[in-house]
Amino acid sequence: MAERERLICAAAALPDGGTGVRFDLDWHGERAPAFAIRFSGRVHAYLNRCAHVPIELDWMEGQFYDFSGLYLICSTHGAMYLPETGRCIGGPCRGATLTKLAVAEHGDSIYLIEDTPSHG
Ligand code: FES
Repeated sequence: MAERERLICAAAALPDGGTGVRFDLDWHGERAPAFAIRFSGRVHAYLNRCAHVPIELDWMEGQFYDFSGLYLICSTHGAMYLPETGRCIGGPCRGATLTKLAVAEHGDSIYLIEDTPSHG
């Protein structure tokens, strides 16, 4: 498999502990919603799919953090996730994890790292 980078957003669009950016990707042959957030300076991205019931986390678009800015939260039933790993530390799916996606920050931009079938 080869890797390809796809632009998600400008680096400045992800404030630390603040609003996230939603995007779509191909996930096992289907279009799936995903999001990127920044925590302690680093960017992380996950499928936008709660580990409890497979629905999107943000009720208000881009609002993935709780009030403290320390945890990601599912707006439907309140599961709380660690931003660095996606591990659920409270709520109905404690111990489960969000599906993490590979991202990279270069200069002023954030990129999704996608696997692509290699040829030859
Ligand atoms: S659907 Fe997310 S906590 Fe239940």
